[in-house]
Amino acid sequence: MEMEDHIRREFSKRFGSDGSLYASAGRINLIGEHTDYNGGFVFPGAIDKCIMAEIRPSGTDMVRVFSIDIDEYVEFGLNEADAPEQQWARYIFGVCREIIKRGGKVEGFDAVFAGNVPLGAGLSSSAALESVFAFALNDLFNDNTIDKFELARIGQSTEHNYCGVKCGIMDQFASVFGKKDHLMRLDCRSMEFEYFPFEPKGYKLVLVDSVVKHELVGSPYNRRRESCERVAARLGLQTLRDATMDDLDAVKSDITAEDYMRARFVIGEKQRVLDVCDALVKGDYETVGERMYETHRGLSKDYEVSCEELDFLNDVARECGVTGSRIMGGGFGGCTINLVKDELYDSFVETASKKFEERYGHAPKIYDVVISDGAHKC
Ligand code: GLA
Repeated sequence: MEMEDHIRREFSKRFGSDGSLYASAGRINLIGEHTDYNGGFVFPGAIDKCIMAEIRPSGTDMVRVFSIDIDEYVEFGLNEADAPEQQWARYIFGVCREIIKRGGKVEGFDAVFAGNVPLGAGLSSSAALESVFAFALNDLFNDNTIDKFELARIGQSTEHNYCGVKCGIMDQFASVFGKKDHLMRLDCRSMEFEYFPFEPKGYKLVLVDSVVKHELVGSPYNRRRESCERVAARLGLQTLRDATMDDLDAVKSDITAEDYMRARFVIGEKQRVLDVCDALVKGDYETVGERMYETHRGLSKDYEVSCEELDFLNDVARECGVTGSRIMGGGFGGCTINLVKDELYDSFVETASKKFEERYGHAPKIYDVVISDGAHKC
C-alpha cells in the first residue's frame, strides 16, 4: 500500500490527474538454470516483490517517466532513434520499440514507477520492469490484443537489442504468467507450460542474498550461451535440448574442455528439472533438495557462474542440514535459494548470517519467498 500511495502522490504532483496502475513481479526459479536458451526446461514462479507503475496516455508522441527509486526523470520521443543513456530508461524505450516493431501501437504517455524487487540479486528486476510496461501498453493502446507470450518476448528482445544480454525467456515468462501459489514448468522449445501447486508443507523457501555482484566484464553470460551453441552446432542440433551425454562424449576430442564442461552441465540440468517436478508431485522434498545441491555443484564447477561467497553460503546450508540449496539465476553474484524445514529455519538464517558476516564483513540479506501473481492491472 505504501508503494502505491507513494506512486500516486508523485504522479499527481508531476502530471496532474490520475493514471492507471499496473504491477509485475520478480521471480525465483526452483531449478533449471541456463536451460532456457538451450531449449530445455525451467521451473520458475513469480514472487511478492514487484515493480508498480502508474501510467496515463498524454496525447503527444513523448514518453515522460519518473523513477522514484533512482530519483531520475527521463523523456524521449517515440520516433527518436537513440535509446536514453540511463539503463533503467533503456528498458522502457526498448519495450516501446519492440511493440512498434511488431505492428503494435504505442502513443505518448506519462509514467511514475517504483519497486521492491532487490536489484542485482538475481530476482529479475529488469524483467519485472519490462513486463509491467509491456503489459500496460498492451492494455492502454492495443486493447490487450498482444498475447502474453508475445509480451514476454517483447521483454526478452529488449534485453537482446537494447541492453546487450542474450538472455532466454524464463524471467519475462515468469513475470508475465506467474500465478499465486504455483510454480510453472516451461518447455522452452515448444513453449508449453504447466502450473504446479507449490505450498510445501513443513518447508519454507528462503533466499540468502550475498549482496555481491561481480562485474560482468566481457559479458560472461553471453559467452556461456556461445559455448552451448558451438557444441550444439558441432552435434548438428539446433540446441542442446536434444543432446545426450553419449552424444557429448562422442565429440569430446573435437571441442574445448571448457565447452565440454558447459554442455555437460546443461545436459544434466534437463533431467534434474524433470526429476524435481516428479518429486514435488509426490511430496518427496528430499529428492527436490538433492537435485538443488547437484545443480549448485554443476553451476559452480562446470558452468563456472558461482563465486566464493555463494559457494560459502551453499556449504553453510549443507552444514545446517538444509534440504536443498543452490545459487539462483544467471550467477556471478546474487543469492542462493534454500528449501528449509520449518524447524531449521531460524537456526539456519541465524547461522548463515553470522558466519557470512564474520567472513565477508557484511551481513547477507534474507528474503522469504511468497509465490504470487505476475503482471496485472491493480
Ligand atoms: C538470467 C537470464 C535467464 C536465464 C537465467 C539462468 O536470469 O535472464 O534467461 O538464462 O539467467 O537460468
